[in-house]
Amino acid sequence: MNRLHGRVRGAPLPAPCNVNWHAVCSPAGQGDCDESFITGSQSGNWGAADMIYLDNASTTWPKPPEVLAAMTRFQEQNGANPGRGAYRMAMAASDQLRAVRAKITRLFDADAPERTILCLNCTDALNIAIKGVLREGDHVVTTAAEHNAVLRPLRAMADRGFVDVTWLDTDGRGYVDPQAVAQAITPSTRLVAVTHASNVTGSIQPIETIGRIVREHDALFLVDAAQTAGVVDVSVKQMNIDLLAAPGHKALLGPMGTGVLCVGERVDPSPWREGGTGGDSAHPVQPPEYPYILEAGTPNAIGFAGLGAALDVITPAETLAHEQRLLARLIDGLADTPGVAIAGDPDPTRRVGTLSLTIASMAVDEAGAVLDESFDIAVRAGLHCAPLMHKLLGTFPAGTVRVSPGRYTTVEEIDRTVEAINKLATA
Ligand SMILES: Cc1ncc(COP(=O)(O)O)c(C=O)c1O
Repeated sequence: MNRLHGRVRGAPLPAPCNVNWHAVCSPAGQGDCDESFITGSQSGNWGAADMIYLDNASTTWPKPPEVLAAMTRFQEQNGANPGRGAYRMAMAASDQLRAVRAKITRLFDADAPERTILCLNCTDALNIAIKGVLREGDHVVTTAAEHNAVLRPLRAMADRGFVDVTWLDTDGRGYVDPQAVAQAITPSTRLVAVTHASNVTGSIQPIETIGRIVREHDALFLVDAAQTAGVVDVSVKQMNIDLLAAPGHKALLGPMGTGVLCVGERVDPSPWREGGTGGDSAHPVQPPEYPYILEAGTPNAIGFAGLGAALDVITPAETLAHEQRLLARLIDGLADTPGVAIAGDPDPTRRVGTLSLTIASMAVDEAGAVLDESFDIAVRAGLHCAPLMHKLLGTFPAGTVRVSPGRYTTVEEIDRTVEAINKLATA
């Protein structure tokens, strides 16, 4: 029996403290869905409750009010399908997407707005890049710090003998060694794929140095900026990045269902999703013009209305400094806690706001559940879709408890989290 919340390990979880989720929307077959959930009256409880959201590495929450207002405004006042008509409402919807492309291109110092592709999420952007660029017989260099959004497409291609992949280990703190990248590149290396920051250790990789090496070897450089877009400066040009993938819904503070891929001038990925673009309908295959060659189907225009507004309010440098201050407080606060091991670099200035830890006296998933149910603290427990990183850290297969503060996390919330983890570790 666990003394903290009196639940036998493996027994069904009790309802969360502030919202009886099952009463709100029962699983299929166990009752009707209460429509108050759909209209939002219950979903607001999470915001009203005294809960602490520390899963910003998955998706940031809450979103700025400007984002919600822009989405509502778009749907109420426009809502036409961008590019799917020459009437003014549809043209205005297209203009809005163009404005988002321009802002993203400026933010990342990328090549051209039309080569900024609007995607569903970072996974979608990475798939467009990986599947669009690689040809049979190519060699790829990537790292153990990658997310499954990179690992899985590459593993699937390697398993069917389409490409050959070199997986580079990181050091014990999660950093990729640029010299190891240089040594792994061969004459048939077409792509080097590296995450800008690990979503497990938060380690910020030396992307500029790696970019220089990749360019010298004339390979293509794909960077997964899932954990850095919106907090760490990215210059596609200065970092010699050919393909930059980023989610709109993490530190860029946009809604879920948004992502971007900046495609450099040195590469023209083949489309892996084909279909309607709203124009050029007589063309029997995907039209060659950017962005349409890589964008087929109705876009998430309402989501990009939100992302467009988010891009006007983000403050990357301040947010990173804030998150690093919170990490420092978390690391200091847990330094003397018996049995708590923190993964990665103890120096918070070399990482984004993500901290993985284990507690000797408690299983990872149990710790996540107790933090949620007994302390109202939402963290993620497990492998975080990055299994190779855990194999290197020695935390496979259980993974870690991941605490990821964001722009809206307060010092007081971090202090309450330190106190809660201290209680778990010493219970
Ligand atoms: C490093 C990294 N890459 C890719 C992804 C996938 O992003 P998305 O959920 O937007 O598809 C994530 C998500 O957490 C991530 O942390």
